Amino acid sequence: MSTETLAINGGTPVRTEPFPSRDPFGLDDAQQLLEVLQNGTLFYPSGKKVYEFERAFGELYGVEHVVMSTSGTAAIHVALGAINPEPGDEVITTPLSDMGTVAPIVQCNCIPVFGDVELHSFNLDPDDVERKITDRTRAIIVVHCWGQPANMDRFMEISAKHDIPIVEDCSQAHYIHYKGRLVGTIGHIGAMSLQDSKHLQCGDGGITITSDAELGKRASLFVDKGCDWSEDRKYRLRYAFIGPCYRITELQGAVLVAQLKRLPWIVSQRNQTGDCIGEQLQGIPHVYPPDHAEDVEHGYWNYAMRVDEEAMGVEPGSFGEALAAEGIPTGKWLGMPLYAFEALRDKIAFGTSKYPWAFTERGMQMEYPPGLCPNAELALKQVQTLPVNERTTAEDVTDIVMAVRKVAAALTK
Ligand SMILES: Cc1ncc(COP(=O)(O)O)c(C=O)c1O
Repeated sequence: MSTETLAINGGTPVRTEPFPSRDPFGLDDAQQLLEVLQNGTLFYPSGKKVYEFERAFGELYGVEHVVMSTSGTAAIHVALGAINPEPGDEVITTPLSDMGTVAPIVQCNCIPVFGDVELHSFNLDPDDVERKITDRTRAIIVVHCWGQPANMDRFMEISAKHDIPIVEDCSQAHYIHYKGRLVGTIGHIGAMSLQDSKHLQCGDGGITITSDAELGKRASLFVDKGCDWSEDRKYRLRYAFIGPCYRITELQGAVLVAQLKRLPWIVSQRNQTGDCIGEQLQGIPHVYPPDHAEDVEHGYWNYAMRVDEEAMGVEPGSFGEALAAEGIPTGKWLGMPLYAFEALRDKIAFGTSKYPWAFTERGMQMEYPPGLCPNAELALKQVQTLPVNERTTAEDVTDIVMAVRKVAAALTK
């Protein structure tokens, strides 16, 4: 079979035009910001926009408690703070995430434990998580990686069997349905980042949601130094405990009010585009587009597929380089599992104390060696991202598919 000469070898690239950028802001954002300035305060308890957003988000998600914070990391810290683990407790999560999933575990003085992932979904493998449960396991943080929901049926079964709460990290999976339910509302408490790259964004921000009254109350205390305010927020009733301060401002609230109206459109555009690319990439040897069940949506926060370069018989990195030369920018994301980063590997958090690991003998015995999660390590070697966002057009899809097919055909020996 003859193959076209790759652009990297002097052939004609599939594409020379840049891909569309997100272009996320409009006059509606400006109008909301203007209203905030006219209100004369950026402090949310004295303003209206953060409250307005919380109400609208709570309605969209059908949850009773929406607690805003300054980042996704903060939102996960708030979720764990609501669960209130003891120092030295263990929290199981995935090594395929942003460090913002793990930092709150350490900041709660708990020990991060890593479960391996399923190769086909990049998501935590429930069976491996169950194997890693001990009598000190206090929570499981499930991340819906790249916007594809994890196996929540199994996680909720495990949670009920072992009486361990599930925190859903939905930073990459805003407004995504799993079997008819929104992720973030299936576990005990959900958290998400509103950082610039996310579907719903305000530069930086976070949301913690729950319908559990006790968790909701503690989350609202935790986000504001543990301070229990009177109903009208005029009086401090008490400090229930000492917590961090993660208050957001009216500026983010204003942008979020405008952005929330776009969220369903963003998700549906990405969902259609990602699925369409996946269908057209079926059947290419050693290329594995994301696959998800019919009743599970994928939000394609990033379009991530796996390419088995070893099976193709080429050097690692060859596929991405060839694709980039065709005019299709690609990426590898983290590069290595979270536990391989020096700070975690060497337990660097609070001075030189090695806390929270040093809190218990068992914590000090926790090691994060290479090979800890073999699937996660393999997935990171094989992952290849494609340039998809809500403004991707049918022509863009054609170019992406054509380039992947061209590169795969030329590289496969
Ligand atoms: C899955 C996941 N969790 C947590 C975070 C941390 O969010 P932030 O950067 O807003 O603190 C991110 C950010 O990219 C993320 O993707």
